[in-house]
Parts: sequence; C-alpha cells; structure tokens
Amino acid sequence: MMHSLRARLLWWVLLPLAAFMVVAGVMAYDAARQTADLLQDNALLASARTIGEDVEWSNGELLANVPPAALEIFESPYQDHVFYRIVADGDRLLGGTPELALPSEHAAYPVFYDTTLDDQAIRAVAYQRQLYNAGEALSVVVVVGKTQASRAGMLAQLWHPQLIRQGLMLVLAVVLVLIGLTSELRPLMKLKDDVADRDPMQLEPVRVDHLPTELRPIVDAINQCIARLKLHTSTQRQFIADAAHQLRTPLTLLDTQVQCARQCVADEPALSDALTGIHRTSRKMTEITNQLLLLARAESAPSPAPNVSVDMTQVVSSVLEESLLAAQRRDIDLGADLEGDLRVAGSEQLLTALVSNLVDNAIRYTQAGGAVTARCRLAGEEVVLEVVDNGPGIPAEMRAHVFERFYRGMTDVEGTGLGLAIVQRIAQTHGGSVGVAPGKGRVGLVATVRLPAWKD
Ligand SMILES: Nc1ncnc2c1ncn2[C@@H]1O[C@H](COP(=O)(O)OP(=O)(O)OP(=O)(O)O)[C@@H](O)[C@H]1O
Ligand SMILES: [Mg+2]
Repeated sequence: MMHSLRARLLWWVLLPLAAFMVVAGVMAYDAARQTADLLQDNALLASARTIGEDVEWSNGELLANVPPAALEIFESPYQDHVFYRIVADGDRLLGGTPELALPSEHAAYPVFYDTTLDDQAIRAVAYQRQLYNAGEALSVVVVVGKTQASRAGMLAQLWHPQLIRQGLMLVLAVVLVLIGLTSELRPLMKLKDDVADRDPMQLEPVRVDHLPTELRPIVDAINQCIARLKLHTSTQRQFIADAAHQLRTPLTLLDTQVQCARQCVADEPALSDALTGIHRTSRKMTEITNQLLLLARAESAPSPAPNVSVDMTQVVSSVLEESLLAAQRRDIDLGADLEGDLRVAGSEQLLTALVSNLVDNAIRYTQAGGAVTARCRLAGEEVVLEVVDNGPGIPAEMRAHVFERFYRGMTDVEGTGLGLAIVQRIAQTHGGSVGVAPGKGRVGLVATVRLPAWKD
C-alpha cells in the first residue's frame, strides 16, 4: 500500500499512459508487419512474373530460362535464400528446386503462402501462366520462395523507431509529471512542515494564504481544532492559576496560626516539635503553590511578549538586593557585573521571576562560602544574562532534564523542581532561550539566558 500521495498520483497518470503506449505499440507493430509483408509479396510476385515471362516453346519443347533480374530483385544485406520451381502441366519440372512445395489448394493465382524448406520458414508465391502452341494449351506454374531474414529486418526498421519514440515519450511524461507534482505538492509539504515543526505551546492558527482551494477545508479543520485546543489549554491554565491563588490565602493563614501555636506551647517540647514539622510542611506547600502560580502565569503570558521595555539592569539589581540576606546566611559572595543600557521587551514581573529563580538556584545549590555572580551584557541584537556559581554544577546526563517540570537533581536541598521550567517558559515567551553549562575549568554552573534586545 503506497502512502505517498505523489507516488499514487504518478501511478494513476502513468498507468493509463503506459496502457495507451502498449496499445499504440501493438498497432504500430501491426502496421509495420503489414507493410513489410506487402513489400515482400510484391517482390515475390514481380520475380515470379519475370520468370514466367521467359518460359517459351522451343522446337515443341518448353524451355525455362531464368533471367538474372528475377533473382536480383531480392538482393539485400540480409543474405536471404531464394528458391524457385517451374512446373508445367501440373507435375513436370522445368527447373528450380523440386523440394519447394506447391500451394495446397489451387485457388485463384497468384497464391501467396507460407511453407518450409530445410527447416527454414519460406514465404512463397505461385504464379500461373497459360502457354499455347499449335492449338495446345499448357499451364505453367512458377513458384518463387524466399527465407524471412530481409522481411524481419524491414519489420525492425519500420517498428523500432516507433518503439523508441514511444519509450522516450513515456520517460518525458514521467519527468514532466514528477516535476509538476513536486511543484504542485509543495504547498502541502510546506503545510506539513508548518504543522510538524510547531512548538507544543504554539497554538496559533495555520496560515491559509497561498494554499490551493482543495487544502483550505483541511486547514480550516486543523485551525478549528487548534482554536478548541487553545481554549481548552487556557481554561486549564486559568484553573491552575486560580487554584494556586486560592490556596495561597489559607496557607498564609496556616503559617501564622502555626507560629502562634508554637509560641503558646513553647514549654511542651513534643508538641513544639510537631508544630515545627507542620510549619515546615506548610512552608513547602506555600513554595509549591507560588511556583505553580508563576508557571501558570508564564504559560498564559502572551507570546510575543508585550511591547513594553524592561530594564534588565534594574531587574537583576533588585533581585540581587532581595537575595542578599539568603546569600549572607550561607556566607556566599554575591556579585554583579552589569553593563549600562540593557532593555528588552516584555513583562517586568515575569523577568524578575526568571532572574530570581536562577539566582535562587545558584545560592541554594552552591556550598557555603561559595561565590555567585550575575552578569548581564549586550551581544549584538541580544541581551545575555549569565548567572555563574562555583558550586557542584549539574552532571551532563541530568542537564537535558533540568528544564522538565518537577525534575529534581540528586540534592538534599529542598525545592519543587519547577524553577527552571518557569525560567525556560518565560525566556520562550520573550522570544529568547536558556541553557545551562559547566563553568570555567568545569567548576560550578553557568545558566545563560538570551533575550532579544529592545528596538526603539
Ligand atoms: N546552580 C545550580 N547548581 C547545581 N545544581 C542546580 C543548579 N540549578 C539547578 N540545579 C539542579 O537542577 C534541578 C532543577 O532545578 P529547578 O530550579 O528547576 O528546581 P528546584 O530548584 O529543585 O526547585 P524550585 O526552583 O522550584 O524551588 C535542581 O533540583 C538541582 O538539582
Ligand atoms: Mg530552583
């Protein structure tokens, strides 16, 4: 079963064409055969007549002289054997080869017939002439036969050029049809690439301009499907965002209540320990809820990002300022290397979350006493942000997975596994990208974010 549309169309064009060519070929062969037969028979008859004309009476006896011209007529490069037999009065041999068969039924002369001689196929003609002598009538039959080499040669000469012409036409048709199909199927292939190369998050309709009318209904159906998918996805994202948002209030309340309870039971160690546990769990839940909310926001953010310029220098500075306390607590040297005008188009809130997640990772996974630096610079049309640390880094086999949701490395540090998924999503909605690589001398980690620079 062929699944290629092009192969099938080609098949349906070529099948009738090939059938037509076979019929035309057979007809051409038939016409060539008729012509060759006619020419051969005419030559045979002319030869038999010439021989017959030269049979004469001589002193009351019949005498047959075979003139050379009668046989020269058959001269050809094919070296045919020519035989003749002259018979008078039914069975009296006047000359020639006696083995050459006479026609079986004596129909009206001249008779053309096929026979064999020494196992060779022979085409022969029998020609009859009446001779009169002193009131006596005598019938003389002249038979001339020849082998078939020149006829076969003539047939080939007549038929082969036709065959070659038709073969060439078939080849030409295949080439033209292939070219035509390739060019006509290009919009379909482009449509296929368009749909196949899509990012799973890209729920924009497929463009319909420049498409053949036959493809429009398919594309319309795909677009309707995409629209439904988009609605469905946005409803779900909204649901997650709402749920996370709703969860935040009771969780904050829980946090306060647990703190209050801890103060009240400070003199009962067992209860106090339990409350400390509850407090840690509620903290973790708050963290997950916050990250989920952020991810839902990042995913429902319009792509491309809104046309508002955001100063990355300012975003990075404010994130570093907020992280200072956490860095000090772990005795980490937090530094910055920021160039002047670094603006990108997008959402300040989301970009702050992006930087904050990277700096948070660097501080949390680097050993106490380590160093974390945030660098931001302009490289051509891009603003490049690098968060560099000298911590344990990420092993090569894990690097491909760290951007997956809920993926966590081999670490004792608490976390939800959503941070880098959020970073990647925000970078993508801003038309940029993110990557992680080992630092200089394969120490630590460099997380690099590239965003298109703001254009005035
Ligand atoms: N700077 C880093 N150094 C070493 N490992 C890192 C670093 N940043 C991330 N990782 C590894 O990548 C994993 C995924 O990071 P990600 O930020 O997505 O999640 P998380 O930090 O575990 O959770 P969250 O950020 O949501 O609190 C981490 O669990 C950690 O193992
Ligand atoms: Mg993280």
